[in-house]
Amino acid sequence: NYPERVLIKEVGPRDGLQNEKVFLPTQTKIDWINQLSKTGLSYIEITSFVNPKWIPALSDCYEVAKGITREPGVTYAALVPNMKGLEKALLADVDEVAVFMSASDTHNKKNINKSIEETFPVLEETIREAKASGKKVRGYLSTVFGCPYEGHVSPEQAEKVTTKLLEMGVYEVSLGDTIGVGNPRQVESNLNQWTASIPKENLALHFHNTRGMALANTLVGMSAGITTIDGSLGGLGGCPYAKGASGNLATDDLIHMLSEMGIDSGIDLGSLVNAGHFIETSLEKPLISHQMEIARAQ
Ligand code: HMG
Ligand code: MG
Repeated sequence: NYPERVLIKEVGPRDGLQNEKVFLPTQTKIDWINQLSKTGLSYIEITSFVNPKWIPALSDCYEVAKGITREPGVTYAALVPNMKGLEKALLADVDEVAVFMSASDTHNKKNINKSIEETFPVLEETIREAKASGKKVRGYLSTVFGCPYEGHVSPEQAEKVTTKLLEMGVYEVSLGDTIGVGNPRQVESNLNQWTASIPKENLALHFHNTRGMALANTLVGMSAGITTIDGSLGGLGGCPYAKGASGNLATDDLIHMLSEMGIDSGIDLGSLVNAGHFIETSLEKPLISHQMEIARAQ
């Protein structure tokens, strides 16, 4: 049983680029996002308003957000970890913000320098102020299927933090398999457990493809009724504060699978692949997805 339509959230300009060692020029980022805006994508996470010492690759967050051409019907979102990030994101007038934390305490500390308990009040204030300024707030929960430092993460722990994020006012929690350790059986059983208390409409899936499981896990997630899926064009990306994190589920490979299955995403694969070609040329390294490989071979 699969959904008729899936909402894809493209996180390439944020999750994809945050890990890059070479600083991609601001204008190149802007040009790429402008191309992505014309592919039929309705949601693009464009950057991250975090400490530039932590994520130098996205230190031009404000300039990128101000510089892009906003297409009607496209939501332009950005990550914010705290009030300082939110204030800057509001100045840049992004459409929507996303707060983030982890299900495991060690990854939470390595990534945002606080324990889980210390993070709640920071995010609570950030969410409240964002909503008071008229912005919708998405939530990310990392390491839900396993942590690079702690290993196993219990479904109960992930459920507890997801519920708390929703209570604090995010409209959706994107469940992150940060280092790509989840497997389809685990995804199925955890989702069954979580959706007993959490509405499916409030959940999204965010798989990294470290071990080639992202598409299989996504399929299981869709059959469990989740219809919002994060992807990164060409499989670009990874969290710099999770050893072994590699790129996300490739948006282009996902769209290919969906269209073969007759599931609508509203996105044009050909224009997406063209945008992929632009960014791989700019980064001077080939994107690793199947669709990009096929395109290069033609
Ligand atoms: P901290 O050092 O604890 O922050 O960092 P602080 O509040 O103590 O402040 C220290 C300094 O940071 C101060 O500057 C602040 O002004 C500055 P100083 O006085 O020393 O010059 N500062 C900021 N500057 C710019 N923007 C801000 C900001 N906040 C404080 N927003 C903090 C805490 C959260 C800021 C830091 O740990 C950080 O930036 N972490 C970001 C890590 C990150 O971006 N990781 C990747 C994204 S998450 C991810 O990839 C996972 C995901 O994809 C899902 C999945 O795959 O699982 C979402
Ligand atoms: Mg990620």
